[in-house]
Amino acid sequence: MVSVGIIGLGSYVPPHEMSNEDWMEFVDTSDEWITTKTGMKKRRIASPDVCTSDLAVEACKQALKNANLLPKDIDLLILATSSPDVPLSSTAGIIQDKLGCVNCAAFDINAVCAGWVHALDIGSRFVGTSGYENVLVVGSEIYSRILNWKDRATCVLFGDGAGAAVLSKVKSGDGILGSWLMSDGSGSSVIEIPSGGVRTPFNSDNFEEGQQYFHMDGRAVWDFAIEAFPQAVTNALSKVGKTIDEVDLIIPHQANINIIKKGMEKLGLDMEKTFTNLHKYGNTAGASVPIAMHEAMDKGLIKEGSLVVTAAFGGGLAWGANVIQF
Ligand SMILES: CC(C)(COP(=O)(O)OP(=O)(O)OC[C@H]1O[C@@H](n2cnc3c(N)ncnc32)[C@H](O)[C@@H]1OP(=O)(O)O)[C@@H](O)C(=O)NCCC(=O)NCCS
Repeated sequence: MVSVGIIGLGSYVPPHEMSNEDWMEFVDTSDEWITTKTGMKKRRIASPDVCTSDLAVEACKQALKNANLLPKDIDLLILATSSPDVPLSSTAGIIQDKLGCVNCAAFDINAVCAGWVHALDIGSRFVGTSGYENVLVVGSEIYSRILNWKDRATCVLFGDGAGAAVLSKVKSGDGILGSWLMSDGSGSSVIEIPSGGVRTPFNSDNFEEGQQYFHMDGRAVWDFAIEAFPQAVTNALSKVGKTIDEVDLIIPHQANINIIKKGMEKLGLDMEKTFTNLHKYGNTAGASVPIAMHEAMDKGLIKEGSLVVTAAFGGGLAWGANVIQF
């Protein structure tokens, strides 16, 4: 078995910052409510001329630079997103073109907030098989454009951003030791954009009702997430024969500080064993784990020898975790 690991990380968030107070101009909310219920303080919002592919390109450029590779060295690009540039064709192809990855296959995957942990597992399985040496795995989202800015229960929770990793062969025994992924499609309506697909194409009535926007049953997601997060960590670790005591850092999906606290408590771990940046960026959906991982790396929290577990959960319902030996 080839050992496959992350040889370069990158991330990018758009410059425009929106605070909790700024949301009070649009909906009946308060800094106190958002802070207490979620831990969020700010989030970044992409300007109207910027697409999901543009954020991804910036994150990928950094990841390539850190991996000491050129765009032509990439054999496969996988994008995790649930806010693509267009419903069809793939946004991964648009990124591949903008980056100049001229020797590269590209496709999108959609596992919503758990997208990047899925993409990392998929990407790692390609490396070392015929024709695939270097795989670029990127999560990128512009949720500010799929949210209903009149729905206070959802609009304040998300932000825009992108994170990327280059996967390649690493020293034997290092790298992505394994992943555990799960789906429960019976909960698909808990988080959804109700119209715009073939089930309910856009029409003037559902457009008027705002069905083209992101909808969520927040309480149902909460109940799911506080179980899914610790379950994913525990199952991924047991799959690769590691124990919770061996873990140096947990990088969870940045959905809500209270979900993370509950999950860490269930795992029997202190909050020092996790990394969070949701106070700065909100929930960036499929981009949140790689953005957090890149920041944790920059802050020296991930070093050679660190055992890191990612964990993500969200729409689908989909959830999972990766165990990575750096
Ligand atoms: C969304 C979430 C923070 C809401 O917290 P909650 O304790 O469940 O709150 P509720 O939905 O019961 O709402 C409580 C009240 O706050 C109100 N409220 C909702 N959004 C508000 C906002 N932005 N500002 C002020 N009040 C708000 C509700 O209308 C409700 O008012 P009511 O009691 O008068 O009806 C919480 O359910 C959660 O974190 N869920 C998971 C969401 C998530 O992480 N999604 C992404 C998954 S990847």
